[in-house]
Amino acid sequence: MTGKFTMKKFVQDLEIIENRDLNAFHYLLTLQSPIKLPEILPGQFAEVLADNSQATFLRRPLSIHDVNYRKNTITFFVKCIGPATIRLRDMRKGDFINVMYPLGNTFSLETEDPVLLIGGGCGVAPLLYLAKYLNNKSKIVSILIGARTESDFAELKEYEQNGSLFLITEDGSKGEKGLVTEHPIFKNIKQFKQIYCCGPEPMMKAVAAIAKKNNIECEVSLENTMACGIGACLCCVTDTIEGHKCVCTEGPVFNIKQLKWQI
Ligand SMILES: Cc1cc2nc3c(=O)[nH]c(=O)nc-3n(C[C@H](O)[C@H](O)[C@H](O)COP(=O)(O)OP(=O)(O)OC[C@H]3O[C@@H](n4cnc5c(N)ncnc54)[C@H](O)[C@@H]3O)c2cc1C
Ligand code: FES
Repeated sequence: MTGKFTMKKFVQDLEIIENRDLNAFHYLLTLQSPIKLPEILPGQFAEVLADNSQATFLRRPLSIHDVNYRKNTITFFVKCIGPATIRLRDMRKGDFINVMYPLGNTFSLETEDPVLLIGGGCGVAPLLYLAKYLNNKSKIVSILIGARTESDFAELKEYEQNGSLFLITEDGSKGEKGLVTEHPIFKNIKQFKQIYCCGPEPMMKAVAAIAKKNNIECEVSLENTMACGIGACLCCVTDTIEGHKCVCTEGPVFNIKQLKWQI
């Protein structure tokens, strides 16, 4: 089962200690807390305030991409798509960003292995921290990342250090050619006891269908549009077998058996 978390939330001004472009669309934003970080687990996210302009007065949800307890830092992997993510990219070392965290539940962390982590596009964001966590617990970890083209990939060494890495691109410029679910690893998918997946919904549904058919436990991290992030506005609900649930408080991670997906 996905991990439920009702731990204390923090709203803090965190200092940017690094804001680094990875490629044309993606950047890594690392923020430092002035005090000891609370426990943050893989799958959780933060609500980040880009600034107080009219276009971005609502916080934006970003997955926890990495945590360094020694340095008290949290890193986000961000894709520029609109005003908030562009504004955050333009902020510099020494600037402060107001962040509410840690929010949401976690991936199942007590799991049988081998496990397969599947990320598509920006959906890789929560998977690095998950891979590190599971690797540290001596689980056998495989990671499959799909992208449109080679230049969309980033931090491949980091993933390689925490599992067996498999790549696929739509144009065949790196790794296998095709969509994520066309990777040869799916020919031997029954070897895996657990799949964790994050990416565009059609990709997650295609992975979920394969997991269901092969009777493999599968968790997906949903990226429904959010506003409050704390269960107050109901804008992020998803339909489950137990009724409508807020993705921000009951998710973002769901076992596919909970979701009413037509797969
Ligand atoms: C739990 C969760 C975790 C997330 N983690 C990350 C992350 O780690 N890194 C990252 O880059 N992004 C992540 N996202 C998506 C991120 O929140 C949005 O990209 C961001 O809010 C866009 O803000 P913006 O002002 O730049 O663009 P906006 O102007 O808000 O959006 C630009 C366009 O993208 C669409 N859009 C906005 N949010 C979403 C969404 N959630 N899903 C699909 N389309 C959307 C809008 O409808 C609009 O068309 C996450 C979302 C959720 C719910
Ligand atoms: S974002 Fe407001 S209830 Fe989930």
